[in-house]
Amino acid sequence: MIDQSHDRLLIIDFGSQVTQLIARRLRELNVYCEIHPFQKVTDAFLADFQPRAVILSGGPASVFADGAPMPPSTVFDLGVPILGICYGQQVMMHVLGGKVERGHGTAEFGRAYVTPMTQKLALLDGWFQTDREQVWMSHGDHVSAIAPGFEVYGTSPNAPFAITGDVKRNFYAVQFHPEVHHTPNGAKLYENFVALAGFKGDWTMGAYREEAIAKIREQVGSGRVICALSGGVDSSVAAVLIHEAIGEQLTCVYVDHGLMRKDESAQVVGMFREHYNLPLIHADESDLFLGTLEGVSDPETKRKIIGGLFIEVFEKYAKEIGGADFLAQGTLYPDVIESVSFSGGPSVTIKSHHNVGGLPERMNMQLVEPLRELFKDEVRALGQELGLPASFIGRHPFPGPGLAIRCPGEITRAKLDILREVDAVYIDQIRKHGLYDEIWQAFVAILPVKTVGVMGDGRTYDYACALRAVTSVDGMTADYYPFTHEFLGETATRIINEVPGINRVTYDITSKPPGTIEWE
Ligand code: XMP
Repeated sequence: MIDQSHDRLLIIDFGSQVTQLIARRLRELNVYCEIHPFQKVTDAFLADFQPRAVILSGGPASVFADGAPMPPSTVFDLGVPILGICYGQQVMMHVLGGKVERGHGTAEFGRAYVTPMTQKLALLDGWFQTDREQVWMSHGDHVSAIAPGFEVYGTSPNAPFAITGDVKRNFYAVQFHPEVHHTPNGAKLYENFVALAGFKGDWTMGAYREEAIAKIREQVGSGRVICALSGGVDSSVAAVLIHEAIGEQLTCVYVDHGLMRKDESAQVVGMFREHYNLPLIHADESDLFLGTLEGVSDPETKRKIIGGLFIEVFEKYAKEIGGADFLAQGTLYPDVIESVSFSGGPSVTIKSHHNVGGLPERMNMQLVEPLRELFKDEVRALGQELGLPASFIGRHPFPGPGLAIRCPGEITRAKLDILREVDAVYIDQIRKHGLYDEIWQAFVAILPVKTVGVMGDGRTYDYACALRAVTSVDGMTADYYPFTHEFLGETATRIINEVPGINRVTYDITSKPPGTIEWE
């Protein structure tokens, strides 16, 4: 069922790697949009969705390919503004009577410069800062003749039809990608496009909060909801929002698996008990988890054990409170978007992620997922709106299996204690140097090797550790953070002086890919 209370923009996805960025640019403009794969966009879908405007994304296909991805032709009869990007432009020209040619020799990937024509176009208001604008091109085929009704408003050496438009129909098509960072002024095009389409910019977190509360009340009625609270941003925001909607009908369960960081359980439980008067069970199950993990060193086995026990424990507490009709989850929009896959092949499991999957069926519960429409930065804004402390909202992500996957090899309580101390010193250093918010995620892994050192006049034989800090947008790809040598030196000294059990510090400079962020 589509929410009809906001003006909606429909992004038809043809499989570009950067389609999500289009949605982000629009959300930044307070415009509500949804991404849907082209196969799903039928006439009936369009009638239900009733978009105020449509964007056709880029994609890797060629309009000449057999079964080339196409939108239903009725999309061009809706009478709403349409913007085609890259493959989306080629689709528009192909369908509306222009011509597309195969790439031979004219493929273009990377930075290019577009120069304006003399005629003005509202889509370009304020866009050209100088006599040319940097854009990002990524195309094999190209448009060789524009469709009737279209005019050219910008050209580049390899894309004579870089910017085209049919002002009467409010159709626009560009060969480049305005949504990416390498088109520095690209956001302006989106701003102009949504203004042309008459969007009011009514998608704000204040409005969202009120609507989400009403929806939760409607869905849940007088039912009972249970929520696995991890202390992470998503589950915390979901819990507070649901609590605001239905009060004591919500019970949160915080499962302490003994793999949390230093003082973390006390902080999470304390914060919720202090600020929110919500029923919260603090389930200390560390003996169960650590006992079962004893002697296990294979990463996938660790993950499976933790995931399985988590569900068992959660189920136990759910039964204790007399069961629940609903399970609350902090699912986000990027997890929901059905992306277009052209490979069709099964993907390899790199790591089994820990979640409470399987529980809703087993316990016959429905899901309440009030963050399904939001991106991570929107969840943070909503958290702020709900009054969650800034220190909570800005926390780095922490994986469900916790320190287990930062302790390669066998997990022992002694190693975990050392790891908690090193991690605390490292994060303290990062905060003291004002770097916490610049870094996407930072942590320490304790290595399964002991090394020889010398302290004072004595020999030491202690564990080595690896510091990790990465920058990332979504955790899918990551770069190591370029600390200064001074920072690294000072941190290593502090760790070795302050944490007994560690006598060697290394810094992990692997990006993802080929590495992953966590060590296991
Ligand atoms: P990797 O190691 O796969 O991690 O590059 C990407 C991001 O996901 C986090 N991560 C997890 N988060 N449950 C989670 O909720 C998990 O099982 C899990 N494993 C990894 C990781 O910390 C990083 O932010």
